[in-house]
Amino acid sequence: MKVLGVVGGPRKTGNTARLVEEVLAGARDSGHETHVFYLSEMELGPLGHDGERYVYPEDGFSSMMPHLETMGAIVIGTPIYYDHVSSLTKLFMDRLYYYSKSHGDEYRRRFPDGVRCVNVVTCGWDNPNAYEEVLEWMNGRMRNYWRMRILDGLKACGTGNHPVAKDAELLRRAREIGGSL
Ligand SMILES: Cc1cc2nc3c(=O)[nH]c(=O)nc-3n(C[C@H](O)[C@H](O)[C@H](O)COP(=O)(O)O)c2cc1C
Repeated sequence: MKVLGVVGGPRKTGNTARLVEEVLAGARDSGHETHVFYLSEMELGPLGHDGERYVYPEDGFSSMMPHLETMGAIVIGTPIYYDHVSSLTKLFMDRLYYYSKSHGDEYRRRFPDGVRCVNVVTCGWDNPNAYEEVLEWMNGRMRNYWRMRILDGLKACGTGNHPVAKDAELLRRAREIGGSL
């Protein structure tokens, strides 16, 4: 099975990337093929409009499309910025609209059904209950719009004092989730 990782923060060595990469490492341990996309390196633009219809730009998203259309699982990681997902992560979610029914049934059919989805959130606030609602929001969007099967999410709180790279238990859980995909 093909497993995609999407990193919605700009720091390739940051907490979000580390956690997404650990899930992918677990997936590879179980024999899955993995690909990771660092959105900050991809030149993704917003949806346009020609006065009548949405216009989907030809940009970095094009390189993701063959993978999105053949994936069995996706791991979407975002840092929390101002209490929600990062703009890069939201932009990626917006760009999935290319596959929406409103664009045309033939586009919707290209998006696989039942993709397994692990959402990942990291935040500076040192409160273990922080931003559950953001994780839930991501889960709901992927389930309701894209018929994904939502698996356990991952959350790293207080990353300033407790970076993901030093949290052995969290990394173990990430790898385990990846392995169970
Ligand atoms: C623009 C900006 C806004 C942020 N807003 C929040 C916030 O609202 N709540 C929070 O807990 N942390 C906030 N943070 C901290 C990040 O969520 C946290 O450091 C995260 O782990 C960064 O991920 P990274 O290491 O992958 O870059 C913010 C950081 C930045 C740069």
